[in-house]
Amino acid sequence: MNHPTEHPAQLTESAGLDTEAMPVSLYTDPAQYEIERERIFRRAWLMAGRVERIPNRGDFFVKDIAMLKTSVIVTHSEDGEIRAFHNVCAHRANIVEHRSSGNTKRFVCRYHSWSYNNSGDLSHVPDEPGFFHLNKKKCGLTPVTVALWEGWVFINMAPTPEVSLKEFLGPMADALAGIEYPNPDHALVLRGEFRANWKAVAENFSEAYHISSIHPKTLGPIYAGPLNPFSRPISANVYGAHRSMSTWLNPAAAPFANAKVAQWLFTADHSVTGTRKDGQTNPLVEHKGINPTKSDRWASDVNWFFPNWHLQISANQFWTHEFWPTSATSTIWEARFYFRKAQTVRERLQHEHFTSHITDTMLEDLGNIESMQRGMESGAKPFIHFNESEILCRHGLEQVIKWSAATTARDALT
Ligand code: FES
Ligand SMILES: [Fe+2]
Repeated sequence: MNHPTEHPAQLTESAGLDTEAMPVSLYTDPAQYEIERERIFRRAWLMAGRVERIPNRGDFFVKDIAMLKTSVIVTHSEDGEIRAFHNVCAHRANIVEHRSSGNTKRFVCRYHSWSYNNSGDLSHVPDEPGFFHLNKKKCGLTPVTVALWEGWVFINMAPTPEVSLKEFLGPMADALAGIEYPNPDHALVLRGEFRANWKAVAENFSEAYHISSIHPKTLGPIYAGPLNPFSRPISANVYGAHRSMSTWLNPAAAPFANAKVAQWLFTADHSVTGTRKDGQTNPLVEHKGINPTKSDRWASDVNWFFPNWHLQISANQFWTHEFWPTSATSTIWEARFYFRKAQTVRERLQHEHFTSHITDTMLEDLGNIESMQRGMESGAKPFIHFNESEILCRHGLEQVIKWSAATTARDALT
């Protein structure tokens, strides 16, 4: 078994990527943001949430997409279909649903009480005879194209998507097909707005190079050690527009001193040999697309789906990061850590303790992401440099450049 410090892999070049410095203007130029709005976010398939968020008929959640100046209602309709709609009334275009989630048979616009069923049809208009030439059949909520992959709900904001979800996901979907996600119905959610470009925020969660520098006490002992002081990745793969990386686990990593309370992501039941403490096999560590080199020093995988979604997986659990631009220089970050619901007071406390730990690390990230953005905006540095450990950042930026230049999604994918 080759380990990173013994035999540093040529990840970037073997993935066919450039090794040049990259332009800062991609993070700061308002014109670039406009291009990304039209050519990336209005064209790519965007992951909106898991189906377990809407298990019953009538369940819905609302996804704000500030960059496209809209919000989308994702519903589990009365007929069992998952549908998505622009959250805009046909009467005078007010916002219809102001809750972020719930269960309802009717979406009622509060301005004049036009109401829609959860399949999006206009069902009631107060004082209907007072209107002129109103065709109720044409006044439903405007549909947004929705498609499912492995329990993940994707939406596409183009009036007609240029490529199917399957074409868009391409080899990434093949690599990660058939994962049995543990506890997909219960997530701890962290959310905040960062004063930084969405790519800068996403990049932070896709490289481990910064860990020993800014998280020496929280994540450092897990991801770095004498054998791999700079947390070089074990492996990386590019899959069309998407990308994956396996991060290294310090074999000397001990649970935190107070781990009797907090079981950390990678230490509870951790074994990369495929068996858990209870002797059961672990379908996550056996999956061919997870820790694909089957390294015995594996911590977790980052799977970065273009453009703005990370699916991260360790031997014990999975968690996601979403990055939703609100302007060229601000981003809503939403992380979901999937746990089983606490069954005991002890587990409840473990979750709270985990939340405190993860919040500490996020604050360490937050300060650096925002100060990096300020530095970029100073104009002092026209270029930035990515190393081997930052291969996902580089591939992400290369894809942004490619999609920004391509006149069709199909061109961008080839
Ligand atoms: S704008 Fe929705 S009912 Fe009038
Ligand atoms: Fe970090």
